[in-house]
Parts: sequence; structure tokens; C-alpha cells
Amino acid sequence: MGKIIAITNRRGRVGKTTTAINLAIAFANSGKKTLLVDLDSAGSCAKGLGFSKPETANNIFSDLKYNILIRPAILKTGVKKLDFIHIKRLPYLNQQLVGEVSTNELILKNILKPETANYDYIFIDCPPHLSGNINAALITADSVLIPVAPGKLSATAVRKIMLQLSDIRENYNPELKVAGILLTIYEFNNNDSFALKKELFNEFPKLILNTSIPKSTFVRKAFELGKPLLVFKPDDRAAKAYIKLAEELFERKNLFSLKRKS
Ligand SMILES: Nc1ncnc2c1ncn2[C@@H]1O[C@H](COP(=O)(O)OP(=O)(O)OP(=O)(O)O)[C@@H](O)[C@H]1O
Ligand SMILES: [Mg+2]
Repeated sequence: MGKIIAITNRRGRVGKTTTAINLAIAFANSGKKTLLVDLDSAGSCAKGLGFSKPETANNIFSDLKYNILIRPAILKTGVKKLDFIHIKRLPYLNQQLVGEVSTNELILKNILKPETANYDYIFIDCPPHLSGNINAALITADSVLIPVAPGKLSATAVRKIMLQLSDIRENYNPELKVAGILLTIYEFNNNDSFALKKELFNEFPKLILNTSIPKSTFVRKAFELGKPLLVFKPDDRAAKAYIKLAEELFERKNLFSLKRKS
């Protein structure tokens, strides 16, 4: 069965979407059948992969139908072994009408979990704002990857996620793991970047990933062209860092596996 990894941080502009796209490609390039789920209504993943709005217009939820078919809305990407779906919004349905689905947040789990039979890895790119979507992703995921970029209150944002994870574990998803905290848009030889790394390392020593994603002007260029960085400029240092990150996560694969019952 495949594993589901949510990429989340309630702070905006920290590199969630860039990480989701390029990590998913690095996994696919390593031969893993991968599905990238864009759970942000802004559709940045779709844009970054070069999809036009009409191509991702197929909304899998309609207000009248509760038999949700996800497969017709899954798109092939230009990358071998990588598929994509944009879930623009989760429905807020009358519980009585949806039968077995007990809460709205569980709908995502109900539709994505069966896809673990078809994919080795499913990445979910979460929106930045606090909405049901983040909870839905955390209820559905096996593990969480937390990108953090240098800036004011970056460490506070990580603490907030940790609290949210505790709540989700307690109430919905006891097996939820942290795949790691990923430093992004990282400037080596920069005091703010180093101070953040040190602060997070002191607080979460086992969770900070060895790989950091360096700041690179090619990230924005690639996005503007609708081409993933790993396709547009695979020899760029940030692109190479995403490949290294994939390798590090494979090595830490125990973080993706289910907790053993003692
Ligand atoms: N390694 C990097 N080097 C330089 N710029 C980067 C890097 N990663 C991301 N960026 C830039 O930072 C901005 C935010 O990146 P991205 O969209 O991936 O973040 P996000 O957390 O998904 O944002 P949002 O919260 O709006 O969804 C973009 O302009 C992107 O081009
Ligand atoms: Mg984003």
C-alpha cells in the first residue's frame, strides 16, 4: 500500500507548493508511482505543472452527487509515473446524506485512501490559510512534511503545527508521523537562516531534515513558465537539493511506516 504525505505549514509563501511539485517529481523519477494532490483552491500546483484552468476544471464533487469518482479527474503529467489531481474545494455536505462519511473532514480520506492501492506515494499540497482542508489532509496522511522558510515567527508557525498534529492524533489519526521539518528558501552564510535552523534544531533535533533547499532564482522562473524546476533546470542547486531530499526521505522510510503495535 502506498503512503500519503501532507505538505503543510499554515504560514504562506514558505515553499510548500515548490516542495510538493519537485519532491513528487523526484519520487516519480526514482520509479515510484506518485500522485500529487493540489488541495489549494489557488491551484498553484496546477499552474506550476503547466496545466491550464480548463484542464483542471473537472471538479470531482457536485452538490447533488455523493458517489465520488476520483479517477476520471486524475490527470497525467508530462513526467513519467507522476499523476495529478486538483481538488478545488471539499464539499460541506449534510451528514445524513453522505451515509458512512461521518464528518466533512473525513471525505478526503475516504476518496484518497483507496488510491494507495494504485500509487506508491501520494503528496498533498495544503493551502496556507486555516481551513478544513488542512485538517482533512492531516486526517488522511500517514506523515507530514513541514517546509519552513526564514522569516519572522517561522518557529512559532512550526510550534502551532505541532499542536495541531497532537490534536489530530488524539481525535482522528493516532498513527500520524512527522516526516521532517524542511528548511526552504535557505541562504547559507545568512544570519537569519542560520538562527532559524539553530532554534528549530534545539527544539526539534530529531525532526530537522539534513537536506535544506537553497534559495534560487530559477524557482520563480520555472514557475512563471509553468515548468517544474526539476524539468526546467535539473542541474540547479535547489533542484539537486530536492533530489537529495527524496533520497533522505527514502532512508528515513520508517517514518512513513505504520507504528508497530507493542
Ligand atoms: N528555493 C527557493 N528559492 C527561491 N525562491 C523560492 C524557493 N522556493 C520557493 N520560492 C518562491 O517563494 C514563493 C512561495 O513559494 P511557494 O508557492 O512554493 O510557497 P507556498 O508555501 O506554497 O505558498 P502559499 O502559502 O501561497 O501556497 C514563490 O514566489 C516561489 O517562487
Ligand atoms: Mg502553495
